[in-house]
Amino acid sequence: MRVLGLETSCDETGIALYDTDNGLLAERLYSQVSLHSEFGGVVPELASRDHIRKTLPLIRQTLNEARLSIDQIDGVAYTAGPGLIGALLVGAGIGRSLAWSLGIPAVAVHHMEGHLLAPMLEAVQPTFPFVALLVSGGHTLLVYVEKVGHYQILGESVDDAVGEAFDKTAKLLGLPYPGGPELSQLAKSGRQGIYRFPRPMVNRPGLDFSYSGLKTFAMNTVKKLGDSIDAQARADIAYAFQEAAVDSLVIKCKRALKQTGLTSLVVAGGVSANDCLRGELKKLCDKMSVELYFPKLEYCTDNGAMIAYAGSLRLMDGHIEEAVIEAKPRWPLDTLS
Ligand code: KG4
Ligand code: ZN
Repeated sequence: MRVLGLETSCDETGIALYDTDNGLLAERLYSQVSLHSEFGGVVPELASRDHIRKTLPLIRQTLNEARLSIDQIDGVAYTAGPGLIGALLVGAGIGRSLAWSLGIPAVAVHHMEGHLLAPMLEAVQPTFPFVALLVSGGHTLLVYVEKVGHYQILGESVDDAVGEAFDKTAKLLGLPYPGGPELSQLAKSGRQGIYRFPRPMVNRPGLDFSYSGLKTFAMNTVKKLGDSIDAQARADIAYAFQEAAVDSLVIKCKRALKQTGLTSLVVAGGVSANDCLRGELKKLCDKMSVELYFPKLEYCTDNGAMIAYAGSLRLMDGHIEEAVIEAKPRWPLDTLS
């Protein structure tokens, strides 16, 4: 079965063609970074309009690359949520209409399920059940994954998502949007032990996270330095912020693995591209004899391949939906089946 995947939930237009027999056939990714950079963050209305401009041309390019015509696809998968309502409606509208006109099924995919299943696109895949740490701009989740569609939330952020905290702290340090990768780069010239950020929620039982305090701590540190802040101080703050943010993720992963007794950990979502997080989790998993799985770097952040893949699993399973165009800006992962 050949499935066309559309990802338009935020600031990336991702299109991919996934073949259940032959794997990924072709893909295109367009990032809106240059469009939003002058505003220091994503402007939802601009994002929607740009998805409208880009989606159809990218679908054509993807089909051309795979040397297929539109009537050779067997299903369409599109991100229906969570995300920005206008941006989601572009993918949902185009995906549903295309499927309707071709007389093929379409499936609404949960963006975080797409992230969660992205490591399945690699040669070595995790086996169920496993613990998943999903870390993006909008979510920080620890999930017990029994099998596809069976997700139990073990813990989540009670306030900001970890990616959001990276982005907000980066902005405070004067870094351009999107701040997460920029902050991580700056932290490389930071020194250990100059600043010590708190590790929120680690002294309490449970698997929830909190990231708004870290952002506030960064703000107060910057304020205290006032005009004396220089490049080295900025790098030291970036280092200390990243160290604390990563540390609290690692501590909770350790707790989740102990609590569930599972021996596989999957990490996905934009922040899983962070090399400090990757390194620290590797150390933890080596110590605990746990298998660790990440998507490759380009599938950590938003892309069409993960949506085409997640949709293909549901379509192969005989999943049928009503032909309605629906976007769900809020959509809890544990309500899927
Ligand atoms: O999954 P994603 O592409 O979009 C959402 O679903 O939100 O994740 C984007 C988030 C942003 O907050 C971005 O700053 C963060 O992932 N991110 C990183 C890194 N690469 C992306 N954060 C820290 N270090 C990175 N290397
Ligand atoms: Zn995402």
